[in-house]
Amino acid sequence: MELLNGKQLSQTLKDELKVAVSELTATGKRPPHLVAVLVGEDGASQTYVNHKIKACGYVGFRSTLKRFPASISQEELLAEVAALNADDGVDGMIVQLPLPKQIDPDAVIHAIQPEKDADGFHPVNVGKMTLGLPTLLPATPAGIMEMLKRYDIDTSGKHCVVLGRSNIVGRPMSILLSGKGKPGNCTVTICHSRTPSAELEAFCQQADIIVVALGRPEFLKGEMVKEGAIVIDVGITRVPDSTRKSGYRLAGDVHFDSVAPKCSYITPVPGGVGPMTVSMLMKNTLKAYQNKINNK
Ligand code: GUN
Repeated sequence: MELLNGKQLSQTLKDELKVAVSELTATGKRPPHLVAVLVGEDGASQTYVNHKIKACGYVGFRSTLKRFPASISQEELLAEVAALNADDGVDGMIVQLPLPKQIDPDAVIHAIQPEKDADGFHPVNVGKMTLGLPTLLPATPAGIMEMLKRYDIDTSGKHCVVLGRSNIVGRPMSILLSGKGKPGNCTVTICHSRTPSAELEAFCQQADIIVVALGRPEFLKGEMVKEGAIVIDVGITRVPDSTRKSGYRLAGDVHFDSVAPKCSYITPVPGGVGPMTVSMLMKNTLKAYQNKINNK
């Protein structure tokens, strides 16, 4: 069993980006600028956004964190997005999800100018991704693809089971893995909350690659995985733990102790997919910046 070390790989990617940014600024160009919009006080969201802002600093990007109270109206938030669209000094933006109940996340995502959509969530970008055209890709699935590529894992003709059908992870993951390319060329099965559990288990048991993105701590157990499988754990849930100073521990969607011994490769939580997401967001921001310059 080999760990897919997302933390280390993410550091490599950030170091590559840092070099690219210093080459830009050495020629007198301004650095790329990412704006993160954070609504409300959700602890996990604050942590994720902090990681993103910190990564911007590391690679040499300019970053701005725009915070709004949970009580902000949809109209007000849409006006903020419109202002960022119109600001020529902003290359990329993200609106951290989830959003408070009064706000329709689709309305906000659809309002972001596709060229500045650093998360790759806008329908235009999702459409291009689906057609296999170059575009800003959703960061978590793109990070998983990058991991498979850098570890030189051959996915062609392999059966991949994706657990979860979210717009952020499961669905785009299934599209990227089934697409042409290296990595890619997989036969993909998507399972979700309406898949009968016996069927889900049977699919997993014969899968070469399993990507778990359900948000259900320790859902995937050893008996559901075949010998030699590759397991990618996207889950990261705060589980109450009174023995920790923080009062919680981070749990993946994979029961690591029973699954890991059977795997050829597995991602840990934390230190697997999470850091890759942050690095791919940085890559998207640089791409958005470069696209802007090249289209001028
Ligand atoms: N919430 C959970 N994952 C993500 C992500 O990749 N981007 C944004 N904006 N919000 C999220």
